[in-house]
Amino acid sequence: MKNILVTGGAGYVGSHVIVSLLEQGYGAVSVDNFYNSSPKVYQRLRELTGKDFIDIEADVCDEAKMKEVMAKHDLWAVIHCAGYKAVPESVSKPLEYYQNNLGTTFSLCNAMRQTGVTRFVFSSSATVYGEPQFLPYTEEHPTGNCTNPYGMSKVMNERILTDMAAANPDWGVVLLRYFNPIGAHPSGRIGDAPGGIPNNIMPYILKVANGLLPVLPIAGDDYDTPDGTGLRDYLHISDLAEGHVAALRYLEDFTGSEAVNLGTGQSVSVRELIRGIEKTSGKTLPTEIKSRRPGDIAEARADVSKAKRLFGWETKKTLEEMCADAWRWASQNPQGYEGE
Ligand code: UD1
Repeated sequence: MKNILVTGGAGYVGSHVIVSLLEQGYGAVSVDNFYNSSPKVYQRLRELTGKDFIDIEADVCDEAKMKEVMAKHDLWAVIHCAGYKAVPESVSKPLEYYQNNLGTTFSLCNAMRQTGVTRFVFSSSATVYGEPQFLPYTEEHPTGNCTNPYGMSKVMNERILTDMAAANPDWGVVLLRYFNPIGAHPSGRIGDAPGGIPNNIMPYILKVANGLLPVLPIAGDDYDTPDGTGLRDYLHISDLAEGHVAALRYLEDFTGSEAVNLGTGQSVSVRELIRGIEKTSGKTLPTEIKSRRPGDIAEARADVSKAKRLFGWETKKTLEEMCADAWRWASQNPQGYEGE
């Protein structure tokens, strides 16, 4: 059995990646310091998969610890999901963002070199593309034109990992450029659990549907789009998680580096997303038109042909399933993992 290190394994993406790994016969070792997540997710993962895995509370920046973990658990690959991810906070705390989001990668790369681990899957983001020069974004679209330190930390990580793969011919690196993951595991037991006022649209919609926030701010209805609101390529978190396992399979006999988009290839507006949750929840959501967020674009949409060509991966779940699963999670866990 191949053992995979998942950094940020207690987080929204990492926890769903662990489900996919365990279901497909991999062993998982999670490292998380619970900076933005809860240890309670682990018990739920064991219950819903019926499988066990190793969880370690540690800071991924702790290089000696990462080396110890890699040596002890006979790891084959690293899936690096851990990171700070709040765009506005990154603008006010750039040093913290660069230090953490780059420091984790330095620590992992050093530990890999010392222990002979040669496979790396990185949680990147469509944010690396910046303002679109053309749509859908292909992986050849220029990157680096980001307006905030969070986005720049993804760009820099991509560059560091690409350079590491070039310098180490036995390394294989996949940079997964996520579009907008939403939804939750169909069991309703794990999902996205941001505290306070969410930055992203889906958790905000769900808090309004649960009555935890009074009104949903629509960040601009004057975009050049059919209904005036922003268009994004939302994909189900379980499809995204499967994309990581597909990347691992590809890495079995691949060396070098590849950037690969993970999305559906379709874009959906803010209003359509709201309607999706209204339909599945049976509630009408109060909304308020606000000004555009700085740095926001009218549309983001992935060219998904590379993922299909290299990995044989494509999304399976519909917008209805994304909304139904998101609402099942949110309505059953209105306080996230803290409600029990
Ligand atoms: C955002 C980040 C991006 C990050 C991604 C995943 C920005 C500018 N971009 O992408 O770097 O990789 O999250 O974490 O923050 N919207 C509202 N009201 C809200 C919030 C959002 O109408 O309260 C709209 C936005 O204008 C956009 C859509 O909802 O059209 C999606 O927003 P969001 O979920 O924040 O994702 P992105 O902006 O695509």
